[in-house]
Amino acid sequence: MESGGGGGGGGLSSADQQLIRESWQKVSASPLEQGLVLFGRLFDLDPGLLPLFQYNCKRFSTPQECLSSPEFLEHIRKVMLVIDAAVTHLEDLHCLEEYLTNLGKKHQAVGVKVESFSTVGDSLLYMLEKCHGPAFNLNVREAWTKLYSTVVKTMSGGWEVSKSVE
Ligand code: HEM
Repeated sequence: MESGGGGGGGGLSSADQQLIRESWQKVSASPLEQGLVLFGRLFDLDPGLLPLFQYNCKRFSTPQECLSSPEFLEHIRKVMLVIDAAVTHLEDLHCLEEYLTNLGKKHQAVGVKVESFSTVGDSLLYMLEKCHGPAFNLNVREAWTKLYSTVVKTMSGGWEVSKSVE
């Protein structure tokens, strides 16, 4: 029994939820491929994020090197799984709250600034648009923007908590 018309989906109407589920189907058929589009775009928009990905203390010298490393491909899989979990729980996103807050904390610990998550959001929309073409219309874009900002808002709780505790 959630209050409001959004059904507890972070302000998502049932029409929004439907649009998100439909559009995610095509993406989730090839998550790695789509994730590569997302992160390729992210490094184009902000190459400064590249040094944050280090595995066994090894830095990548180019985005291409990063995008082809097995460890980074695992990160892409993880990201796509988190989005998939959000799409699965559109009606009860609050059940992911604790997980997402912790995920925010982990990202703060590896040096990610909360602001960088808006560049991730732009890259997510870019990937969705590439995948769907003109079918990715304003309504679908707005539905995804709402979902993504709910996820980021929850993750950013991890940053704020760690700052205020210390
Ligand atoms: C600015 C963008 C991002 C950067 C620089 C970043 C960086 C990292 C790094 C360095 C790690 C640890 C190494 C690894 O597991 O590969 C990590 C872990 C992870 N990231 Fe990200 N990440 C970003 C965005 C995201 C987003 C948008 C999501 C999902 C919504 C996400 C989900 C995860 C998950 C699930 C883990 C594993 C956490 C664990 O070990 O429990 N990341 N990230």
